[in-house]
Amino acid sequence: MTPKPLSADDSIKTWLDHPTGGPIIRELLAEAGQSPEVLRPVSRLALKRLIKLSKGQFSQAMVDDLVRRANAADGAMDAALDSAAASAAAEAASPEAAAPSEPAAPSGPEPAEWAERITPGRFDGKTVIVTGAGSGIGRATASRIAREGGRVVAVDVSRERLDQFVADHPGADIVALTADITDDAGVAEIVRAAGDRIDGLANIAGIMDDMTPVHELTDAVWRRVFAVNVDGTMKLMRAVVPAMLAAAAGSIVNTASEAALRGSAAGVAYTASKHAVVGLTKSSAFMYGPSGIRVNAVAPGPTITNIEASFGSPLGADRVQTAMAVMPDPAGADALAASITFLLSDDGVNINGVVLASDGGWSAA
Ligand SMILES: NC(=O)c1ccc[n+]([C@@H]2O[C@H](COP(=O)([O-])OP(=O)(O)OC[C@H]3O[C@@H](n4cnc5c(N)ncnc54)[C@H](O)[C@@H]3O)[C@@H](O)[C@H]2O)c1
Repeated sequence: MTPKPLSADDSIKTWLDHPTGGPIIRELLAEAGQSPEVLRPVSRLALKRLIKLSKGQFSQAMVDDLVRRANAADGAMDAALDSAAASAAAEAASPEAAAPSEPAAPSGPEPAEWAERITPGRFDGKTVIVTGAGSGIGRATASRIAREGGRVVAVDVSRERLDQFVADHPGADIVALTADITDDAGVAEIVRAAGDRIDGLANIAGIMDDMTPVHELTDAVWRRVFAVNVDGTMKLMRAVVPAMLAAAAGSIVNTASEAALRGSAAGVAYTASKHAVVGLTKSSAFMYGPSGIRVNAVAPGPTITNIEASFGSPLGADRVQTAMAVMPDPAGADALAASITFLLSDDGVNINGVVLASDGGWSAA
């Protein structure tokens, strides 16, 4: 059977499994000293997504060239297949032909790639503070709120990232603020910038640890991770609640992690910090529920962002990597923004105090 022509919209897995596309990709990787294994985490994504993910290393021209080469090779292969058809039929009868040299690809259709769909006006008239808005999940969330009509107070420590975010959203209602959520003066400035009305807070800024178990943990790593993930999250919650109490309305979404649900996703500092985020969420949901304020958390699974993790311990690396065997493919940050904006919006009306795993089912494994 003639293989299907390849396009930039086909997934990386489809490319790797394709009789002409696969060898071309493998050759490219080999030239760069890489094995196809490096593409495993992104195998479900369309080939064209590599352009953005690789931050310019893999260009549109390279994608166009790959598509052209794969389909040109298909033409040559058609001719070869025609002339080989008769002998192939004869060979198929031999016992060796029954033994495939590589494991068979899983059968059945591949799941279609998800595409974000905007709900126009979902955040009309609402002011939402989003921390970590310069990158990854925070950026995708701030972007979605802005494109759905909200006024966004976009907070990050990186001015450069915020400038880029604003430049990418011409005409959107964005107040970009360079501030550190661990700093009280910065937090006061964020609340001032929001004004009297604060409808939502998406507490997304966070940092990873170095995967160390407790006997190898340094005070510096513990303090840094807790300062951002716990103190920062708490300080922003504390600062917005008075305006929400005055309005008898408001929605807070904190960012937990798979590491808030299990012990195998990170080092002890990050794991403990994200468990603390769950405590902040549940206590506040209980306290303020009757006052019209909802407080929930999202627990992201693996997500393609700029977050940096290091392996500062052979034991930690070995244990965490073992657990990663059941980890699903990573999601795009826009898939996390879909979960976070759902809880932030009025669609989350009856939901208070939950920790919503948004992880492709990892927590079910
Ligand atoms: N990426 C994942 O796989 C994953 C998985 C589980 C949970 N999370 C959580 O999701 C959240 C977002 O992470 P991401 O993956 O999008 O990371 P990211 O590094 O791409 O983005 C985080 C942003 O937060 C900003 N930031 C860091 N410290 C700050 C501070 N003190 N004040 C203000 N801004 C600060 C950074 O400058 C950065 O722009 C984090 O809380 C993280 O723990 C991520």
